[in-house]
Amino acid sequence: NASREIAEPLLDWYDANARALPWRAPPGTPAPDPYRVWLSEVMLQQTQVATVIPYFEKFTTRWPDFASLAAVEDGELMSAWAGLGYYARARNLLAAARAVAVEHGGQLPGTEAELRKLPGFGAYTAAAVAAIAFGERAVVVDGNVERVIARLFAVADPLPGAKPRIRELADSVTPDERAGDFAQAMMDLGATICTPRSPKCLLCPLAKRCDARADGRPDAYPVKARK
Ligand code: ADE
Ligand code: SF4
Repeated sequence: NASREIAEPLLDWYDANARALPWRAPPGTPAPDPYRVWLSEVMLQQTQVATVIPYFEKFTTRWPDFASLAAVEDGELMSAWAGLGYYARARNLLAAARAVAVEHGGQLPGTEAELRKLPGFGAYTAAAVAAIAFGERAVVVDGNVERVIARLFAVADPLPGAKPRIRELADSVTPDERAGDFAQAMMDLGATICTPRSPKCLLCPLAKRCDARADGRPDAYPVKARK
């Protein structure tokens, strides 16, 4: 079935090629700290990995958990955030840390549905944290995942109209086990191999199963709406 045909080679590829990022647990170790997963996912929403890394290190050194972050004053957090942009994220970060400290005893709730109720937890963040930190089989879709899925299945409809179809396809290939690794593998594949321009199909673990590659037009997807 399509799910194993894609998830298995992708997870094998991830085991050998995962980027060593400070918020990830090294392969073979227990799940990463939910606080670190959450903080990294919020920072990564509109900011590139290379920019995020030093901020992530600074934040986790100064504020290693929800309780310490919840106690920070607004102005101090805003200064520390300076340079990352999209300041609504920083305000939501603090609101979420305070809600977790006050209402959840300093621990994130462990399901996508509960996470969704916290400040700043949109569909992407709730799914990513549920899958990566708690192992829930959540369907994680960001721009990288959209592009990879649109190519694997040669989705002919243009974005943004194709989003529901792409989500359905992403759901159909998400494995029951290791959904967090699967999501991060999709993101790493999109960032390093299945790139927006000139995807490196010769290096791709999914090339055999890719409809866009079979058509010889990998970079024609995702189709964009005509202006
Ligand atoms: N972009 C957003 N979250 C990510 C993650 N966990 N790994 C790689 N890229 C990401
Ligand atoms: Fe992307 Fe090419 Fe891999 Fe298809 S074969 S998923 S287009 S890199």
